[in-house]
Amino acid sequence: MSALKNTIIAVANQKGGVGKTTTTVNLAQALALTGERVLVVDLDPQGNATQGLGVKLDTVTGSVAELIRDRSFPTQSAIYQGQGLDLIPATPLLARVERELVGMTNGEMRLALRLRGLEANYSVILIDTPPTFGPLMNSSLNSARKLIVPVDSSFYAMMGIRELLTEVEEIRSATNPGLEVLGFLLTLVDQTRIADEVCHGLIGSFGKEVFETKIHRNVRLKEAPAFGRTIFHHAPHSQGATDYMTLAQEVVTRLKGLLDAPHDHCCEPRLSLVEGGTHE
Ligand SMILES: Nc1ncnc2c1ncn2[C@@H]1O[C@H](COP(=O)(O)OP(=O)(O)OP(=O)(O)O)[C@@H](O)[C@H]1O
Ligand SMILES: [Mg+2]
Repeated sequence: MSALKNTIIAVANQKGGVGKTTTTVNLAQALALTGERVLVVDLDPQGNATQGLGVKLDTVTGSVAELIRDRSFPTQSAIYQGQGLDLIPATPLLARVERELVGMTNGEMRLALRLRGLEANYSVILIDTPPTFGPLMNSSLNSARKLIVPVDSSFYAMMGIRELLTEVEEIRSATNPGLEVLGFLLTLVDQTRIADEVCHGLIGSFGKEVFETKIHRNVRLKEAPAFGRTIFHHAPHSQGATDYMTLAQEVVTRLKGLLDAPHDHCCEPRLSLVEGGTHE
C-alpha cells in the first residue's frame, strides 16, 4: 500500500558517471516493489534510464521531448508501462529540444507544468537528469520538490557540489522556492581510503543530510542495464538489490517525516507564468 503521495524527486549531479541513472531506476523499482505508484522521467538525451528499464530507443513514439515541445501532445502517449512502474522515456531528440528550449516561451517551466499535472496519479515521480547544467537541468530543478544528489566515492567527488547547490539556490529564489535536498547519497562505495575520505568529508559538510544508506560498488548493478532490467529482476539477492531496497526505506522514512510536518504554503512552485504555445 502506498505510504507517500505526490512527491517529485530529481536525481541530480552535474558530474558524470556518479550513479544518477543507476539510482533512479533501481530506487524507482524498489519503491514500486514496496507498493508505491512510481513514474520515472528520463530527462537525459542519452536515454540510459529508458534503456535500463527495458525500452528500446528506436521503438519510442512519444517521449519527454514531445511533452516539453508540444503542449497539445497527449501526456498518456508518452507514458510506457514497465515492470511495476511507469516511464516517460527520452531519446536523442531531447538534445535538439534542449537547444530549442532557450527560445521557447516559458521553456524551463514546461516540464514542471506537465509533471504537476501528473502528480496526483503517482506517489513518487523520479527524474533522471543529464550530467550538465543547462535548460534540461533547470527544467528538472523547476519540476522537483526534492533532490537526491548521488556522490561517487572518488577524489573529485566533492568538487562541484557547491556549484550544484548554488544552482539550486538560484532556482529556489527565482521559480521553485520549495525545492529541498532530500539527501546526499554515497555511491560506488568500495574499500579504498578515498571512499572513506569522501564519506567523512560529505558527513562533515552536510551531516544528517547524507543518507545513512550507502550504495556499494557491485558488478551486478553494472550488468543489469545491458539486460534492460533493474537489479531486482537481474540479481534480487545481490548487494546492489539490498542497498537500493534499504535506500527506498530510508527515502520513505524521510519523505514521511517531511510530509508529516505542517504544510508550508510558500513551498508551492511559482507556476503562475503563462505556459507558452508550441515552439513552431
Ligand atoms: N554501485 C555501482 N556498482 C557498480 N557499477 C555501478 C554502480 N553504480 C553505477 N555503476 C556503473 O557506473 C556507470 C555510471 O553509472 P550511471 O550511468 O548510473 O551514472 P550517471 O551519473 O547516470 O552517468 P551520466 O552522468 O553519464 O548520466 C555505469 O556503467 C553504471 O552501470
Ligand atoms: Mg545517467
